[in-house]
Amino acid sequence: MGNFVIIGTQWGDEGKGKIVDLLAEYADFVVRFQGGNNAGHTMVVNGEKFISHLVPSGILQNKTCFIGNGVVVDPEVLISEIKYLQSKGVDVSPKYLRLSEKAQVIMPYHKSLDHAREARKGDNKIGTTGRGIGPCYEDKASRVGIRFVELLKPKTFAETVRTVLDEKNYQLKHYFGVETVDAEAVIKQYLEYAEFLAPYIADTSVEIMVGIKQLKSVLFEGAQGTHLDIDHGTYPYVTSSSTVSGNACCGSGVGPKDIDGVIGIVKAYTTRVGAGPFPTELLDETGDYMQSKGAEFGATTGRRRRCGWLDMVILNNAARLNGLTGVVLTKMDVLGGIETLKICTAYNYNGKILETVPTDLEILAQCVPVYEEMPGWDEDISTIKEFKDLPLNAKRYIKRIEELSRVPVDIVSVGPGREETIIINNPFV
Ligand code: GDP
Ligand code: IMO
Ligand code: MG
Repeated sequence: MGNFVIIGTQWGDEGKGKIVDLLAEYADFVVRFQGGNNAGHTMVVNGEKFISHLVPSGILQNKTCFIGNGVVVDPEVLISEIKYLQSKGVDVSPKYLRLSEKAQVIMPYHKSLDHAREARKGDNKIGTTGRGIGPCYEDKASRVGIRFVELLKPKTFAETVRTVLDEKNYQLKHYFGVETVDAEAVIKQYLEYAEFLAPYIADTSVEIMVGIKQLKSVLFEGAQGTHLDIDHGTYPYVTSSSTVSGNACCGSGVGPKDIDGVIGIVKAYTTRVGAGPFPTELLDETGDYMQSKGAEFGATTGRRRRCGWLDMVILNNAARLNGLTGVVLTKMDVLGGIETLKICTAYNYNGKILETVPTDLEILAQCVPVYEEMPGWDEDISTIKEFKDLPLNAKRYIKRIEELSRVPVDIVSVGPGREETIIINNPFV
């Protein structure tokens, strides 16, 4: 029992989807609180793979899923995801999926601007997912965004689109030199989306609180990862939302006293998609081994993920920023077959040892990881169900992570499937 936040500790794709799906069994509600369809969360149930971009990963466990006010939602993507899940026999009726009337709507011009900006940046691009996430959050902050509550009011919606497009089209045409967006076509298309989504739209903060008062358990599902956070990540190589645990409250309309714990998802090594610093990146055959054995391709864009050793400076940063109460270690099976494993315990910056992540990216770029070496294991661990049955060196690797982070490892994931999991301590029971 209790309410837990699940967040990524690295640069995303840690395996949040798998763990949220697994732990949703013990929860009543699952809530997304930030990001949008830049996320790609993979669940593998009975050998069948589902990738969700917007619908919370609790949907396969028949739990009530909420898309909170902090999420930016592309209605076209949401509708196609609902239809896709329904075609697979999953109940995604308004009983199981609730969409905040305060969530911001991703508009076609957000996507155009995302692409145009990245193209103009050339070699300095962020490597965004191109889903319009940044421009949508920009409009929210500059108070010209459109929320679902407005989308439901045809006259207000149409007037806002016409006004906003005046400025956006000027920018698209005269600054970026790309195609403009036709206001009337967008209005017509989006009002059709509104009709489809209307039964799902609600004041989700109120509905979640009604559940909490009835002692229902809530799982808050983070997207992206701590080091893609707009404030605390490797800025500007970040996403445009706050990805840390504190935002679970803000992005869903729940107070901090209703949160009982924060579970950090940690991939047993590190990956990153898109541009930006990555101190422990491996550009050698070990990196290639992780990439191919871990099938490290982006679930949203299909891009090859960069791979490297586990970085405790990054993990400890996440432990502090999120107030981690427990860790789930994923993809341990991928490390099997590597003779000597390395864990980065600090950075060496021109002879100075750093134990925290420098804010200045020029300094971070010059940091050389300080490694501790540990012997690896050869056995296939993917069928192991209990910690005691793991090879000794795998147990030592896990214990060392606990020592260095001072956070208990509650769960170890040894394969993509729901059942390929070793539960040491279930936070819900
Ligand atoms: P998320 O964005 O954090 O939900 O993670 P993604 O779904 O983008 O990426 C994680 C990938 O690793 C997916 O393909 C999962 O199916 C897979 N995965 C998750 N846990 C494990 C694991 O323990 N072992 C292996 N081999 N794959 C895993
Ligand atoms: P999940 O939830 C990994 C990265 C992009 C890019 C940067 C900004 O699956 O872990 P954006 O489109 O958000 O403006 O892109 O952030 N990024 C992710 N990387 N996993 C994700 O989500 C990501 N969402 C965004 O690659 O570098
Ligand atoms: Mg992902």
